[in-house]
Amino acid sequence: MAEKKKFQAIKGTRDLLPPETELWNRVEQTARDVFGTFGFGEIRPPIFEPTELFARSIGADTDVVGKEMYSFEDRDETSVSLRPEATASVCRAYIEHGMHALPQPVKLYYTGPMFRRERPQKGRHRQFYQIGAEVLEMVPPTQDPAKNITKDAAVDAEVIEMVMAFFARLGLESVKLEINSIGDRECRPKYVELLRAELLKVRDKLGPDSQRRIETNPLRVLDSKVESEQGIIAGLPKIADHLCANCAAQYAEVKRQLAMRCVAYAENWRLVRGLDYYMRTTFEITARGLGSQNAVCGGGRYDGLVELLGGPPTKGIGFAIGEDRLILSLQEAGKGGEAQGRDVFVAWMGEKAQAAAIAAAQKLRAAGFRVELPPVEQKFGKALGQADKLGARYALILGDDEVATGQWTVKTLADGSQAKMSEAEFFELLKKSKALSS
Ligand code: HAM
Repeated sequence: MAEKKKFQAIKGTRDLLPPETELWNRVEQTARDVFGTFGFGEIRPPIFEPTELFARSIGADTDVVGKEMYSFEDRDETSVSLRPEATASVCRAYIEHGMHALPQPVKLYYTGPMFRRERPQKGRHRQFYQIGAEVLEMVPPTQDPAKNITKDAAVDAEVIEMVMAFFARLGLESVKLEINSIGDRECRPKYVELLRAELLKVRDKLGPDSQRRIETNPLRVLDSKVESEQGIIAGLPKIADHLCANCAAQYAEVKRQLAMRCVAYAENWRLVRGLDYYMRTTFEITARGLGSQNAVCGGGRYDGLVELLGGPPTKGIGFAIGEDRLILSLQEAGKGGEAQGRDVFVAWMGEKAQAAAIAAAQKLRAAGFRVELPPVEQKFGKALGQADKLGARYALILGDDEVATGQWTVKTLADGSQAKMSEAEFFELLKKSKALSS
């Protein structure tokens, strides 16, 4: 006999099950509602793309592209990868569908699984879910650069305001927004060189990761969580002191715009983000109960990315929320919602009662109530026990008597009370109790 093999979900992946999936659906629906009020439409890009798309946009030297992608050779020998994020895909789609010809800016949001081969821990998975949004706007050749600063800053602030509105609608607790500006193609390279020179002076005091990053990406040293490096990092030059005039003006305007929108923030000059496409505004949001993986959202501006991928000069700003972490934080704050439950458990006995029970279940379901209809007859005692276990609110008891008289027996499971009523009266009762509970 063949040995029985036990299959398990692959490390870093997991099944999302009811009743928790109800919370996931509620979160995603809330995102749709809130983002819709800001004029965003949904995009559903593919789960896999050419590896080159991610390498070019996220950056070949980043951890995500260098170490964490699930890449494989397709049968036609092209290298494809499971998407580690969706900004690159959205930019590709913007170009592919000629979205620059649509009224600008184009505002898109997405939800779905992303894949990164990271070390799994609380709030960190290899298949995880993001809810993200992007604003893309082709730059007309005649645009006045001075005007842009105010406009771009207003767009940045509105995007951040939208995430905060979404989190507020969900009741997410201890939400903290941190912002920074990492400059542009003019001022950042000069700052990076300065930083590199300073880092080389203290090279021996840094750990192996930071030492390596002096060469590959000195900005990422600022991100380091290594305890012994914190004192050294505190003494490094700060980008805010080295921004060019346009970047400094835009950063100041973002702060003014956030204040106008009553969005509270803290500045964090060490917030550089792990993906290469950012410029100027960057931000991250943390929330309650997430431990070391506490960033529930990250985002920023990425003007030029569309151009880098072969499109017209285009501005971009967006964010992605880690949905797994968002859910975790809501659950830790006791906002996980109730178990799925049922509105009605139909306990029936006898052939005639079965026909009546099926008809009742059909009507109740059509009216939107959650109904459990046992497939075979059960003794009433057993049926009521099962109704209780499923968290049903009412048991509709249908036997010969009820069918003959048209008067249904309804048991309220919370207090055990029982009453006779007509079908119309039962529907009325259900509607009232639903209205009270929602
Ligand atoms: P990111 O910072 O790489 O940005 O990811 C955004 C969020 O996804 C993180 O803050 C975190 O909540 C969640 N996340 C990332 N990796 C994992 C993981 N392994 N397990 C669980 N959650 C994770 C981006 O992806 C950019 N595309 C965001 C963006 C959009 N920037 C501009 N537009």
